Amino acid sequence: MSNALPRPLISRRASSLQGHAKVPGDKSVSHRSLMFGAVALGKTTVTGLLEGEDVLRTAEAMRALGAEVIRHEDGTWELHGRGIGGLAEPADVLDMGNAGTGARLVMGLVASHPFSTTFTGDASLRSRPMRRVTEPLSRMAASFFGRSGGRLPMTVVGTGDPLPIAYELPVASAQVKSAILLAGLNTPGTVTVIEQASTRDHTERMLTGFGAQVKVELLANGGRAVSLKGQPELKGQTVIVPADPSSAAFPAVAALLVPGSEVVLPAVGINPLRAGLYETLKEMGADLTFRDARDQAGEAVADLVLRHGPLKGVDVPAERAPSMIDEYPILAVAAAYAAGTTRMRGLGELRVKESDRLAAVAKGLQACGVTLEIEGDDLIVHGTGKPPKGGATIAVNLDHRIAMSFLVLGMASEEAVVVDDGAAIETSFPGFSDLMNGLGAKIGAAE
Ligand code: S3P
Repeated sequence: MSNALPRPLISRRASSLQGHAKVPGDKSVSHRSLMFGAVALGKTTVTGLLEGEDVLRTAEAMRALGAEVIRHEDGTWELHGRGIGGLAEPADVLDMGNAGTGARLVMGLVASHPFSTTFTGDASLRSRPMRRVTEPLSRMAASFFGRSGGRLPMTVVGTGDPLPIAYELPVASAQVKSAILLAGLNTPGTVTVIEQASTRDHTERMLTGFGAQVKVELLANGGRAVSLKGQPELKGQTVIVPADPSSAAFPAVAALLVPGSEVVLPAVGINPLRAGLYETLKEMGADLTFRDARDQAGEAVADLVLRHGPLKGVDVPAERAPSMIDEYPILAVAAAYAAGTTRMRGLGELRVKESDRLAAVAKGLQACGVTLEIEGDDLIVHGTGKPPKGGATIAVNLDHRIAMSFLVLGMASEEAVVVDDGAAIETSFPGFSDLMNGLGAKIGAAE
């Protein structure tokens, strides 16, 4: 794990992408498997864990909180947890790196333990809003002392007498929902989170698998009320992490854009609350199939088969945003190649991701010769049905998905594209360049 120096990368036009590629494990499931293993009793085994920097920071944090976390040589991870309420005060500051999920979920976990934990992170994480979690967790009686604007570094003074709350999320956020449920694990009584738009449900599914009582009620408007009965006895489990659909999105879209391509991505998570990009790509006319859809340790997975072909512009409804929130940068790249206009609605949350992604995507695409507008929270990309010019250098600003999206754009654009910091990709997709080059991409070190 390192604060690697920026490593500029260049992506040149590829002739075609061919073959099978195993995408790394799901980031959301990986973080959670370590956290739940740390508070379960007995042994948890995790296969397919994403060994990206974000998740490795969570592994370190679980060790610092007293769990035993072992990595075996074959890449399997083993945890021996402390049991509910059994985490111990960390001896040092927890540096969560670039990881919003790691920071916010662990803040929830420690909020209902009677000790203090100080969190920090890289410049990106230190600029991200934390009030969305500290506000509900304060209602549960934890205290928070952070920088102005509720930003990290921040000390969480956890409580030994947490209060159960019922809380309606003001923003559609699986991180906030999960932070509250994780604080609820060591809270007597029942914690309820109401979400008006359904967000990824890995916390609910996995906690149920570890032995918690989680009730999910579907609301008339498509939202959910999720209740967790506090102080369950969680038992260690075997977790098989699916390939990350958010990471698979990059080779998937690359295969659609580069002429002559045919790519298979095995065992990718296709949980409907994560699959909005794939639904949208199909609406755009993509040659994309989910082959051999199956259940793998409680999560739906399939082999994704993608072939190059023409795409057309579509209107993406705001209601779909939670199921593809991390995929808009790469969808915007696909939209730049499509024939006609793509309107992506309701993207306000993109402004508070690892960077202001709405601004970063718009600026990067414009620099690559793409015509677009931002109207309120909507991004409108005017594709011509032909490859964009490319030829720009993109500022990554510590955002892995911006880096990967523009490297994909460069795979079929007229001129090569440079990203100024390829090291950022290590947070979620270690080995990205090698995997893409193995399929036929031409990514290399830029001068
Ligand atoms: C995540 C939730 C999403 C997503 C992030 C992972 C999770 O964030 O962007 O990459 O694992 O719960 P928000 O909850 O902020 O939407």
